[in-house]
Amino acid sequence: MTLVVATSAVDDTRHVGEALSALARPGDVVVLAGDLGAGKTAFVQGFGRGLGVPDRITSPTFTLVHVYDGRLPVHHLDVYRLDQLSEALDLGLAEMLDEPGVVLVEWGDAITPVLPHDYLEVRLTFGEGDDDRNLALRCIGPRWTARQSALASSLAPWAPTEETD
Ligand SMILES: Nc1ncnc2c1ncn2[C@@H]1O[C@H](COP(=O)(O)OP(=O)(O)OP(=O)(O)O)[C@@H](O)[C@H]1O
Ligand SMILES: [Mg+2]
Repeated sequence: MTLVVATSAVDDTRHVGEALSALARPGDVVVLAGDLGAGKTAFVQGFGRGLGVPDRITSPTFTLVHVYDGRLPVHHLDVYRLDQLSEALDLGLAEMLDEPGVVLVEWGDAITPVLPHDYLEVRLTFGEGDDDRNLALRCIGPRWTARQSALASSLAPWAPTEETD
């Protein structure tokens, strides 16, 4: 099942990320999919804020990985520039996944073969207006599927619609 919400401002997308961060557990993986400028980093900014990260979260486009201290350590990856799957492992992905933090991966849909098959997928697409975005959230694997109803509750302010996969 996929839950879809619409936002119409960057702060609104940050708020969705913040609301979902309340569900975060050590070892969680969030895969962010969506075109350039869709709002993946904005979502992570809100998610980090929700986890109490005091720093300004910026895009790890060139450095590939940023790590922040919050209620849980936050690993923020952007794998857009990787040419090969093996490079994702070179980033220390396995070690990150071993740590009791959360891992959020922009363009993560490109590296799912090297990710655990247990993650929340957040797919951002452009809506009609310049500031309109749709966020489609899908639980992959038991870790997140077990939290599906909590996920729906967290999204209640955005009146999510359900799509069957
Ligand atoms: N509803 C919205 N949600 C998110 N961002 C929005 C929205 N409306 C406008 N924006 C703008 O779209 C841009 C989103 O940028 P952001 O860096 O978050 O995207 P991204 O998906 O991480 O891009 P990239 O692929 O380059 O990493 C920002 O300039 C933001 O202000
Ligand atoms: Mg980004």
